[in-house]
Amino acid sequence: MIDELHPDLARVLVSEVTIQQHVQVLAQQISTDYAGVDRLYLVGVLKGAFIFLADLARQLTVPHIVDFMAVSSYGQAGAVSGAVRLMMDLREPIRGQHVLIVEDIVDSGHTLRYLYNTLQGRQPASLKTCALVRKQQGQTTFSVDYLGFEIPDVWVVGYGLDYADRHRTLPYIAELKPQAF
Ligand code: PRP
Repeated sequence: MIDELHPDLARVLVSEVTIQQHVQVLAQQISTDYAGVDRLYLVGVLKGAFIFLADLARQLTVPHIVDFMAVSSYGQAGAVSGAVRLMMDLREPIRGQHVLIVEDIVDSGHTLRYLYNTLQGRQPASLKTCALVRKQQGQTTFSVDYLGFEIPDVWVVGYGLDYADRHRTLPYIAELKPQAF
């Protein structure tokens, strides 16, 4: 662990220890709720969710498989248009399966709503959503089934979150200095 913050970063917003505690709580809730299910189909949303999904999945006590989707938003996250485009689809049909979409962050909610509607149309046995972080002023009306915690409406990086693909693999979530973007 490097003690000094990168010069782009203003402060650590959520420590590695706190993140891991939330991941553990979420994994326990999900494991309890899906106990008895044959197989849970985890859908990670690339790129941001790959770290959270890796930690979450390894703490689940229910049988599960991991798959990924990739989407791209037109404009920045939170863009008014809300237009989302599918860039990479799942490897398998999900009809009749129990599916959990795993996101790193919910801001406008456009991404999660698009994925939910897309996958719901494929007739899964059940479909729920899990996100580690939600922005407090994100103004999303999308209700997440499993939510880790909320953060203020600042630009954050780390634990899967990036700025121009940088700082994604930090073990904590940090606030980016305004002059860094
Ligand atoms: C981020 C994040 C979510 C989405 C949330 O992805 O990983 O998928 O934005 O924003 P929304 O709730 O406003 O839709 P991003 O588009 O930055 O792509 P990335 O995960 O590849 O970095």
